[in-house]
Amino acid sequence: MSKNVSLPVVRRLPRYYRFLRELMENGVIRISSGDLSRRMGLTASQIRQDLNCFGGFGQQGYGYNVRALYEEIGRIMGLGKHREAILVGAGNLGRAVSRHMDFASRGFALTGVFDVNPELVGRQIGEVVIQDIRQLEAFCAPNPPAVAILCIPKEAAPAIVKRLVALGVRGFWNFSHYDIALHYPEVVAENVHLGDSLSTLCYRINELEKQPAQPEE
Ligand code: NAI
Repeated sequence: MSKNVSLPVVRRLPRYYRFLRELMENGVIRISSGDLSRRMGLTASQIRQDLNCFGGFGQQGYGYNVRALYEEIGRIMGLGKHREAILVGAGNLGRAVSRHMDFASRGFALTGVFDVNPELVGRQIGEVVIQDIRQLEAFCAPNPPAVAILCIPKEAAPAIVKRLVALGVRGFWNFSHYDIALHYPEVVAENVHLGDSLSTLCYRINELEKQPAQPEE
């Protein structure tokens, strides 16, 4: 990642990427920051500021070359690289994540799935057979995956993370409620908390309800 790109900008990149891909699919060759901002619900200056981090794509009076910007954002996110990922916890959430996530388009391949429950071991998720968690070291040591996806309960996470970090795993897509970054500052963890998102919605609807209702047109 370029050292000039801040994490808030990085967090907006996937959305730019998605919009640019849709534009490309609709045959759009170039777009002004004003037009892109209207479509994305951001201000034009925000877009200019964000995309200026990558330099050279916006030209006064021309706008952005959609394909060039799309490819550059993909390159910055490292999407073209092939990285292996494993999933730990093949319960309801783990199965949903592994079935519905298009790993390949994000530069990942799901190569291993692990669970502690003997009833799940040997079953298949997509093309991957669920292995006993006791096989974790044997599977990972020769070829440590870049990323582990954690869909296990919080109580189980510390021991699993310790083993994975010892195996050289440096990225976590963390659905467990264990705070990995606090204990392992040397790794990167993206935490997904659907509950936090729902609480944020709660706050926002609360605020909305304080405002007088808009009269109907
Ligand atoms: P689940 O009970 O269906 O699946 C958990 C799976 O983890 C089970 O198959 C279990 O055998 C396995 N497991 C437990 N300890 C393990 C270990 N040491 N090694 C390997 N596998 C192990 O539960 P569900 O619904 O899939 O949720 C999983 C966890 O994710 C829950 O603890 C829940 O709190 C959390 N969760 C987080 C969400 C989020 O937004 N971050 C949303 C929903 C659930």
